[in-house]
Amino acid sequence: MGHGDNNEADQAAVEAMRKTMDEISFEGRIVIGEGERDEAPMLYIGEKVGKGVGPEVDIAVDPLEGTNPLAKGRANAIAVLAAAERGGLLHAPDTYMEKLVVGAPAKGKVDLDRPVKENLKIVADSLNREIDDLTVVILDRPRHAKLMQDVRDAGARIKLIEDGDLMAAMSVAVAGTAVHVVMGTGGAPEGVLAAAALRCLGGEILGRLRFRNDEERARAKKMGITDEAKIYRTDELASGKDIRFVATGVTDGELLRGVRFFSHGARTHSLLLDSSRGRVRFIDTQHFDDPAHPPVIRL
Ligand code: FBP
Repeated sequence: MGHGDNNEADQAAVEAMRKTMDEISFEGRIVIGEGERDEAPMLYIGEKVGKGVGPEVDIAVDPLEGTNPLAKGRANAIAVLAAAERGGLLHAPDTYMEKLVVGAPAKGKVDLDRPVKENLKIVADSLNREIDDLTVVILDRPRHAKLMQDVRDAGARIKLIEDGDLMAAMSVAVAGTAVHVVMGTGGAPEGVLAAAALRCLGGEILGRLRFRNDEERARAKKMGITDEAKIYRTDELASGKDIRFVATGVTDGELLRGVRFFSHGARTHSLLLDSSRGRVRFIDTQHFDDPAHPPVIRL
């Protein structure tokens, strides 16, 4: 953290995740990862992971969601993985996605094609609030200038973030985080990961792919995506019957503490979700370098 080197940070996360997967008995297949085979040496789309024996599992990973914040020592960097049975996670191309994320009370009521103000009114009503009591999270990018204006004209507050619309999507589904909607365009892979989390947490994401160029369009076509205007719902992005999602804090954030180091080990904080068992687990783990000589355990 804080080394100022995005690539180094990302590589460390990818290597650690890949190494751990290879120690586990399952037949894994990466459906969302670090990019195409020719772009990424590890965790590329289509790569087989795991020991090759055991259940067949499709995996979507973002070993480091928030390379920038981590390199700069800022908040909300996480390591993320979602898993489902074969075919249970959309094989989304590495492009952008226009997103609308709401919590459970507004699920099924909002629409990506509705004017911003109407969607905000629906969310406000679902939460028994006024629009000016809503906070909308938006990535701070020039492409969002009109969206920001529309949200402000509607009377809502905006929380601009530098990075990390996946963590923002998760926060919207959790009461007490003081954010209520995510709007705008971010990474499509993060959209699928957000859908996996929301399948377990109960909110909704609506997403439409936004290609940056014809090369991305052609690549998506090869992957079977022909309808560019299609709006994907949560259960189309993450359709599996059995979805698992885990995020571990790397730097401190809204839902998770970051990794804390002490003289002989480290402490991590993870969120583990499971769509079929109806459980949300926050896992606080103290890792010791030498199990025979545990250091002082802290509450
Ligand atoms: P990475 O750290 O995984 O590169 O992604 C960070 C992120 O902020 C995502 O949360 C977001 O969806 C995407 O990048 C936005 O892309 P861009 O920076 O190109 O606007």
